[in-house]
Amino acid sequence: MAMKISVAINKGGVGKTLITLNLVGAIRKSFPSSKILVVDSDAQGNLTKSFQVKVNKDDNTIYDVFMGTGTVKEAIVSTYDTQIDVLPANADNNYLEFDKMEEFRDNILSWFVALIKQFRENISQISSIEGLKKLLNKKIDPSSNYFNALEGAFDDVEQDYDFIFFDTPPELKQVTSSVLTISDVVIIPFEPDISSVDGVTQLISRVNTLKEEFNPNLRIGGILANKVYNTNVHAKVINSMMKYANRNNYRYFDTEIPRSIKFADKLIRRGMPITMGYPDNEFAQYFFRLVKEMNEYGLLDENGKTMVIPNNLLKESEGEE
Ligand SMILES: Nc1ncnc2c1ncn2[C@@H]1O[C@H](COP(=O)(O)OP(=O)(O)OP(=O)(O)O)[C@@H](O)[C@H]1O
Ligand SMILES: [Mg+2]
Repeated sequence: MAMKISVAINKGGVGKTLITLNLVGAIRKSFPSSKILVVDSDAQGNLTKSFQVKVNKDDNTIYDVFMGTGTVKEAIVSTYDTQIDVLPANADNNYLEFDKMEEFRDNILSWFVALIKQFRENISQISSIEGLKKLLNKKIDPSSNYFNALEGAFDDVEQDYDFIFFDTPPELKQVTSSVLTISDVVIIPFEPDISSVDGVTQLISRVNTLKEEFNPNLRIGGILANKVYNTNVHAKVINSMMKYANRNNYRYFDTEIPRSIKFADKLIRRGMPITMGYPDNEFAQYFFRLVKEMNEYGLLDENGKTMVIPNNLLKESEGEE
């Protein structure tokens, strides 16, 4: 069964896509025989493009999976790397909420019909307010699959992969929630600016609701600082994020990813994550450190066990630590 790891935060530009991409690369290098599925759930399709996947007009995407017009298996495409497949996204996903409205309207209508039926069948009970309340409390919920629209969608392919990574859009609506509902672990990145603690708090609050309602197995992998730069503001924000994490018993990753100016250029030239193209690169090494840390916390294993990393490319592990 695949380990399902998502990277999510409702704020834009924090580095979700870059982190997903490089984590996938670092896992690919560290566990060379593992098979990885990368799921892009963002209409911007940045992760899809990063793996050089082109989506044609008639190709199935994550949109079809959400809409029920195609299966995950049908939408998966192979990439330049035999071990990595991609489930692409494109701008169609921008229309998802709108298109789902029609489905939602149909659900409302069926809910209404079901409610009327119940009223007719139980009319004798409705002689008191209590009786009415009881009836209305019955679980007929028109929005029932809003937060768990992907439930069961990956069952068919889970045995084909060791890891499934999900990149998410900068929102906390149906797409992100539905991804979280089927994830085992969520990594929550933040960029140390003044509003970042609020964003993380909102995300975690949603995670806790989804855990309670749909997915008790969902683990908060940890809070991950990205684009860290040596300034007073960053130091202050990081300090308050650590305090927040400590207070609430959430993990704060020791690995902090610095803001790098040079790496993007390399990424484009080789057309692959820097962790795959240049694993020795200083910036890439942070992701190998992150993989090591995730492994130590049992985040790469369904049962929370630590695994042996067959191909450990972390330079420090050779004795500098
Ligand atoms: N550590 C970093 N150092 C330098 N640039 C970075 C770093 N992390 C991300 N970036 C750059 O910041 C921009 C936003 O990153 P990215 O697209 O990964 O964020 P995102 O959270 O996925 O955004 P969105 O919410 O729009 O999907 C990109 O141009 C990316 O290359
Ligand atoms: Mg992104």
